Amino acid sequence: MLITLPAESQKSAHIRIALNGEHVDVSFAPYKTLLEILREDLSHTGTKHGCELGECGACAVLLEGKPVLSCLVLGVECDSRNILTVEGLGLEGHLHPLQDAFADLGAAQCGYCTPAILVTAKSLLDEHPQATRDQIRAALSGVLCRCTGYLQIFEAVEAAMVKIAEQNAAAK
Ligand code: FES
Ligand code: FES
Repeated sequence: MLITLPAESQKSAHIRIALNGEHVDVSFAPYKTLLEILREDLSHTGTKHGCELGECGACAVLLEGKPVLSCLVLGVECDSRNILTVEGLGLEGHLHPLQDAFADLGAAQCGYCTPAILVTAKSLLDEHPQATRDQIRAALSGVLCRCTGYLQIFEAVEAAMVKIAEQNAAAK
């Protein structure tokens, strides 16, 4: 006989994370991945659910500033860690320069890959503010885009890089 436990009794794991800069407590079934927790328990559906096999890259988020495939990370591994999703990319009510550039240059078409590409590109530009085309191509190579052919994506990342440099210069 199959016995189904009530949903609440399955939530035996608990973590506290910094999600997009805010401390969040969440309880969940211990087998859940970070992707499932973000989407199902925290209603952060910007991160996309693709293959769940580590192959498409659509589920990428930043863990301590580095891209990870959230479908391959268990939630219980994330206690006390910093996580950034596309929902946290904008700054003080404004779109991030990457988001502006993607909109201006048509780098998001169906948009399914876009959240993962955006956070991955942010991580790259944080580390390499003057990234080359080859560095951009390599950084984004793990996220599959079936729509754009990637050219607009590379151009948008380069345009955002220029904008960020201008903003930084103006802030000095
Ligand atoms: S959902 Fe495809 S790599 Fe995670
Ligand atoms: S914009 Fe459609 S998959 Fe990239």
